[in-house]
Amino acid sequence: MSLRLGDLAPDFTAETTEGKINFHEWLGTSWGVLFSHPADFTPVCTTELGTVAKLKGEFDKRNVKVIALSVDNVASHNNWIGDINETQACSVNFPIIADPEFTVANLFDMIHPNASDKFTVRSVFVIGADKKVKLIITYPASTGRNFDEILRVIDSLQLTANYSVATPANWVDGEDVVISASVKDEDIEAKFPKGYKRIKPYLRITPQPNR
Ligand code: BEZ
Repeated sequence: MSLRLGDLAPDFTAETTEGKINFHEWLGTSWGVLFSHPADFTPVCTTELGTVAKLKGEFDKRNVKVIALSVDNVASHNNWIGDINETQACSVNFPIIADPEFTVANLFDMIHPNASDKFTVRSVFVIGADKKVKLIITYPASTGRNFDEILRVIDSLQLTANYSVATPANWVDGEDVVISASVKDEDIEAKFPKGYKRIKPYLRITPQPNR
């Protein structure tokens, strides 16, 4: 059965461009982003890995470790990294898992046979510090991902893990948020001292509490 939100992320040991890793040990106390791409030496994937390398500082700021995966082997990944660095003006600074036997791909349901039975789709898993799956997104091979959106979701996931709030459509860090339905009107002032607007009984807005 495929993975669902709230499930424990499967653990595995695999060869990567930074040596053999055990996934849960490698994550340690950090959050994680595991993302798959269809194949090495392909154009969209080249731009994606370059983009992630340039965003490493943003992931670090959020205590998030990033790891990529494709079904090619380590030698291929290492050769391709040279091209990524050259063409995307970056230095790949995160491990890429080699998964020629589809071991990890099958654990995370990254092979969608009606798209391709030979290559992983563009999956993204955000994993919390508790090793549970917080977000799953799947893109087809033809569409490169928006990694600013992944960072935006991580901001929301980390905020809502710590405060009784949710984030509205198109929210970005720093904007007002929605007070959770579980918070009673009479408790709002104590919980949200910056104030709030009660637009409807179910729609109560407050400034982002950790800003
Ligand atoms: C790409 O990364 O450009 C790509 C990979 C597989 C199929 C189509 C495009």
